[in-house]
Amino acid sequence: MSDTIESVLQEKRLFNPPAEFSEHARIKSMEEYQQLYDKAAQDPQAFWAELATNELHWFQKWDKVLDWQPPFAKWFINGKINISYNCLDRHLTTWRKNKAALIWEGEPGDSRTLTYAQLHREVCQMANVIKDLGVKKGDRVGIYMPMIPEAAIAMLACARIGAPHSVVFGGFSSEALKARLQDAEAKLVITADGGFRKDKIVPLKNAVDEALADNSVPSVANVLVVQRTKQDINMQADRDHWWHELQPDASADCAAEPMDSEDLLFILYTSGTTGKPKGVVHTTGGYNLYTHITTKWTFDLKETDVYWCTADVGWITGHSYIVYGPLSNGATSVMYEGAPRASNPGCFWDVVEKYDVTIFYTAPTAIRAFIKMGDEHPNNRDLSSLRILGTVGEPINPKAWIWYRQVIGGDRCPIVDTWWQTETGGFMLTPLPGAIPTKPGSATFPFPGIIADVVDLEGNSVGENQGGYLVVKHPWPSMMRTVYKDDDRFRRTYWEHIPPKDGNYLYFAGDGARKDEDGYFWVMGRVDDVMNVSGHRLGTMEVESALVSHPAVAEAAVVSRPDEVKGEEVYAFVILEGTHTASDELKAELKQHVGKEIGAIARPGEIRFTDALPKTRSGKIIRRFLRNLASGEELVGDISTMEDLSVLDKLRQG
Ligand code: WTA
Repeated sequence: MSDTIESVLQEKRLFNPPAEFSEHARIKSMEEYQQLYDKAAQDPQAFWAELATNELHWFQKWDKVLDWQPPFAKWFINGKINISYNCLDRHLTTWRKNKAALIWEGEPGDSRTLTYAQLHREVCQMANVIKDLGVKKGDRVGIYMPMIPEAAIAMLACARIGAPHSVVFGGFSSEALKARLQDAEAKLVITADGGFRKDKIVPLKNAVDEALADNSVPSVANVLVVQRTKQDINMQADRDHWWHELQPDASADCAAEPMDSEDLLFILYTSGTTGKPKGVVHTTGGYNLYTHITTKWTFDLKETDVYWCTADVGWITGHSYIVYGPLSNGATSVMYEGAPRASNPGCFWDVVEKYDVTIFYTAPTAIRAFIKMGDEHPNNRDLSSLRILGTVGEPINPKAWIWYRQVIGGDRCPIVDTWWQTETGGFMLTPLPGAIPTKPGSATFPFPGIIADVVDLEGNSVGENQGGYLVVKHPWPSMMRTVYKDDDRFRRTYWEHIPPKDGNYLYFAGDGARKDEDGYFWVMGRVDDVMNVSGHRLGTMEVESALVSHPAVAEAAVVSRPDEVKGEEVYAFVILEGTHTASDELKAELKQHVGKEIGAIARPGEIRFTDALPKTRSGKIIRRFLRNLASGEELVGDISTMEDLSVLDKLRQG
């Protein structure tokens, strides 16, 4: 399914939005998009202020729209707002009160629907419970949950009382959880006894116990546990509390705290180029506005839509486009606990059929997995309710795009390929489905208000169809504010690779891209040491540190190689400590070790033992050669800077 670079470069097909789709769309034509784009570009502050006024509830209006002290932005200064209020309370005074807010489908086949009134009630109850557990405005709360409604309830409860949450993906190991809880200095952890994942039970509470063992996260005073799998777990008397025991007595009355627009809403850790994941900081007002409006326009949201994003709430996609964006709009958001698996390859299509899903948003890695599972699964279901398809997480290859359009979308649904990041909070490049003709593999154009470009290392725009670095030139409401407790790292990581140009600071995203002759953006993937495995970000250094923490490993170099389904796969070169010898058992042990240190998503697909690594004379590992070796390609590039040429020969001979 992987297309060659040439086929991507030569991709010329253009798909116009169907006329009757455009006719009923919020943004109906390229002209209308262009007008919005121009209006936003001419006066961004007026553009965002108008939307903030019309789309959101504010307890108190801001007195200044933007304060930009590069690279630090503040939006809607002195405005008072609460995102939990915007996602819940304001809908209760309308007919939406009894509309489904969350439709949840569990992996074993159980299900639950929560109306806005019911969701509001449970959020208020949980907010009161966590207040009783000593959580105050400003205290951080770790959330380590399976995909059950209580994950969203926990996030909204934290937001309601002004306690920033830090959601840790349930697939991360106890070690990874510990590091994140420590960095955030979380006061409370909300978790579940376990979660169902691909016919297995993930022992979440055990992982929390391990993370907190020996008082290794001293800030954590309490753990709130939701019962999901009912397996036996250990409950520590002075620390652990069952949600189902506290909920019945908790008041359903909890006013949303008026938050400053710039108050911290959440921290979400993501991989970067150095070993330690960084805490991406998002604040309240700008994030609420941007996720709201991108959901509304990109998915052409209508009151009757049944919207389903298949991400996990542990990632930014789940934050912005399962919970906050859809609920702020009063939409019906579907949440699914399961994942397509050998035992149930048609499970996604069952969900679409069961709930008449109209908008479906998933990742290219999932699409490629569906292709492998066979067309009979979607073909056996009625998918005629669908009207828009979306994709996110990595560049989508044209073949997968076309399959998605034909087999899932019945050739009638526009595809929105949304390029964005944890750091950007919301969509940056994306088609608006009724307006922008799409090309398979292109995220098309910037969302109105986003000034994006492809530049060289000096910040000069590159020519048509020339590769360069993807940058954003003007601050936007949901941009990350900083790296938690590390302003310096924020500056270095995003703002110093490319110098300011004509007085504009350039946000460097870490992706390579090109713009074609029609101005369409084509994102080519990461240009730094960040890998993209099944749409999940992993730093090469992160995996290397995990490997060298094993006593048998002296040195490790990690690269990725292309994989048909996962997009990329982790490939590790390992030099062993003196007395250890290479064996298949040790390989397996090291893979497991990485799983334990980070999580299963980081487990190397392949480990190769070696005596030496290709290095420059100054001692830098030449990863380019390792990537060539891992994917079985010819070596490309200059070898004259190499310290010891024989290393390459040995590696080539395997
Ligand atoms: C990649 C996920 C191409 C990109 C929302 C980015 C994409 C990283 C796309 C962010 C897309 C995401 N086309 N590449 N439509 N969407 N990416 O922080 O490399 O988990 O920098 O956010 O995913 O990953 P993150």
